[in-house]
Amino acid sequence: MRILSGIQPSGKLHLGNYFGMMRPAIELQERGEAYLFIANYHALTTVSDPAVLRASSMDVALDFLACGLDPERTVFFRQSDVPEVTELAWLLSIVTPMGLLERCHSYKDKTAKGIAPSHGLFAYPVLMAADILAVQSNVVPVGRDQKQHVEVTRDIAIKFNNQYAPVFTIPEPSIQDDVAVVPGIDGQKMSKSYNNHIELFGSEKETRAKIMRTVTDSTPLDEPKNPDTCNVYALYKLFANEAEQQEMADQYRIGGFGYGTAKKALFEKMWAYFEPFRAKREALAAQPDLVESILQRGAEKARHEARQTLQAARQAMGLE
Ligand code: ADP
Ligand code: TRP
Repeated sequence: MRILSGIQPSGKLHLGNYFGMMRPAIELQERGEAYLFIANYHALTTVSDPAVLRASSMDVALDFLACGLDPERTVFFRQSDVPEVTELAWLLSIVTPMGLLERCHSYKDKTAKGIAPSHGLFAYPVLMAADILAVQSNVVPVGRDQKQHVEVTRDIAIKFNNQYAPVFTIPEPSIQDDVAVVPGIDGQKMSKSYNNHIELFGSEKETRAKIMRTVTDSTPLDEPKNPDTCNVYALYKLFANEAEQQEMADQYRIGGFGYGTAKKALFEKMWAYFEPFRAKREALAAQPDLVESILQRGAEKARHEARQTLQAARQAMGLE
């Protein structure tokens, strides 16, 4: 089974990204032949500063490699190193009905947020279809917001296969419903746009300060507290084993346990959890050539697949 997913390089990653997307993406390497790429062509639709795009792409590569992505098991690459997808996107756009794209929520949502309504933004799902179809993936794990794009991909592939020749594997979305939403320090969904996030690899001082700012209620220290409505406890649970979770929950309920103490425990747990990843990240950051060669090796494998698919599509359409 071939599994492919892509991640837009959109700045420093936080705990919500880690538990909601990175860790599940890294675990794909246990489930089948995994492909994971940094969607920098897609990011061009929203990032206009070249230095920012370059740096964010490198950050994402470092974050994933540091957090356990094994490039021997996952084909890991930068989208723009597989330029075959852009040609394939054009071929696919020929069979893509306008109405299909007009129905996509993401274009409407993004323009409503003030992102310039460019052709690239509108045609974004066709490029995504090309990413998926180029390597003939069977399964595409995505968040709920991307499900429609995988459905569009299926429609495009079915239409092409019927109209020309059976070139493409029809992919299935795999929706990660079981991944809980990670709360931010204010209790809303953790998101960099709300500035309520805790970065994975922030400095010790920043990380501690951010955790100490987590919003709690004003129950006095002596009184019993409810762990199930507390943001600090919700974050602590992500890192603690069952016995540790139970112990802290009991302390909340008994009373005499302050939020400050809970926050310190959360900091210690988080800091220890990421300690090995931090060390690995620092080592990798000092070897940009190594990271580049990993990405290049991944791109070669992906290109090998993409070239074959592209050639079959060109032939089916009469270009060869
Ligand atoms: P942000 O909201 O910080 O801009 P993105 O929208 O770029 O984050 O999210 C990238 C990925 O991380 C998405 O696949 C999304 O499912 C996941 N993700 C982001 N925030 C959270 C969260 N608070 N809880 C769970 N998953 C999240
Ligand atoms: N659009 C996806 C997102 O914003 C990223 C992406 C691009 C992707 N191409 C893909 C995801 C192909 C899965 C498969 O999250």
